[in-house]
Amino acid sequence: MNNCQERYSMIGQVKIKDVKSQDSKSQDDERQVPEIGAPTPANSAVTGGSPGDHRRRVHGGNIREAMERYGLSPGLGPGLGAVNIHDPGILDFSANINPLGLSRRVEAAIIENLPGITRYPDPECVELRRAIAEHLDISPANIIAGNGAVELVYLITKAARPRLAVVPCPTFSEYALAVESEGGAVKSVYLQPGRGFSIDVEEISSTLPGADILFICNPNNPTGNLWPREALLYIAGEAARTGTLVVVDEAFIDFIDDEKQGTVVGEVPRRKNLIVLRSMTKAFAMPGLRLGYAVCPSEMVQRLASLRDPWSVNSLAQVAGIEALRDRDYIMQTKELIRRERSFLYDGLASLPGVEAYRPEANFILARLVGSTTASATTAAAFTTATSTTTAAAPSAADLAGGLGRRGILIRDASSFDGLDETYFRVAVRTRPENERLLEALRDYLLTWM
Ligand SMILES: Cc1ncc(COP(=O)(O)O)c(C=O)c1O
Repeated sequence: MNNCQERYSMIGQVKIKDVKSQDSKSQDDERQVPEIGAPTPANSAVTGGSPGDHRRRVHGGNIREAMERYGLSPGLGPGLGAVNIHDPGILDFSANINPLGLSRRVEAAIIENLPGITRYPDPECVELRRAIAEHLDISPANIIAGNGAVELVYLITKAARPRLAVVPCPTFSEYALAVESEGGAVKSVYLQPGRGFSIDVEEISSTLPGADILFICNPNNPTGNLWPREALLYIAGEAARTGTLVVVDEAFIDFIDDEKQGTVVGEVPRRKNLIVLRSMTKAFAMPGLRLGYAVCPSEMVQRLASLRDPWSVNSLAQVAGIEALRDRDYIMQTKELIRRERSFLYDGLASLPGVEAYRPEANFILARLVGSTTASATTAAAFTTATSTTTAAAPSAADLAGGLGRRGILIRDASSFDGLDETYFRVAVRTRPENERLLEALRDYLLTWM
């Protein structure tokens, strides 16, 4: 076993940094971990690791917050008040959830198993792990279920206690937040919009020496691109040499036409430094139930399980997960719908005045407002609070999100993503009538600024 392998495998038993051979120790001692706040190259930056750094936690899909912000009236569920916000009048493009809604089979399984909540859930999620193992053709010993994929992001980070993490940006913000919550520093490597936010394997590889962990989101949220598995495997190979753990988050891989092109899940049993995360909240439309899993070297499963509370995956989530994986029709219908609607929505967005859209491969689209326009005060007032201006800069994504939000259509102002500016927004791919409503509202809004 070489030094790198030893470091990874020991995550399963003791803290990763307590285990160093002579060689890896001297290598670590020589590491040039960038000083916090020191000047960094334009395409990367190091943050965190000190109490002064605070990232904002912003996510789509916060219906309660949106209702308050935009003055929308909630349709509350019977007797449950604000915890059961149920308003079909709101069109949510801000969270990337399967527009088919909950699978009928999953719904029936949840109802049937409701009486089971009087007992504790299986802390080891044995049946669920078996179902996932069968689905992926991987041993259950390599699988740990979580209360959403995000619980596993935090657990893995807690186990690895990284001093330095590499994160290609823009991406899902919780990787950096998790690293910083453990006192680690984050090196953001900025993907270039001019290159369609594509990954540069050499650039990422060059940042690995000194890094304990690398997070890669594939397909990437919010840019929507799928990085080829060959590129990821090359990076994982380089990371094995530098003693870097690679976490590939495949939360949106189920929405890809041919997920085999992108997934590296089958590689996990062959490598000691690779973890793949999957979410079941998006593809199976159950973000409120919370379910995700990690596929990782088997030694890590026990270690990760020991770091959290024993019942974090509730019994209904376990039942729902098993039934969801059995519902092949739903999975096929989802792929078909997303393929068709992604292309429809992309074409629609790209043809809007003042909008530039990035070609998507998942179930959401990143777009940008471009150019400067002249506003008509009377029409613009229908959407904004402007009353007298006749000339205006192009609206920001926040203006756009506000204008649509007040009409009950939620989009994601993407300016909070590290590496994007105030012109970026992201929309989920939904059903045809919903996508048409979005495009119509966007067109109306944008015309008021011309
Ligand atoms: C890339 C990515 N990974 C993980 C998650 C969290 O997934 P879950 O709901 O399973 O915790 C999200 C949520 O938006 C995400 O965008």
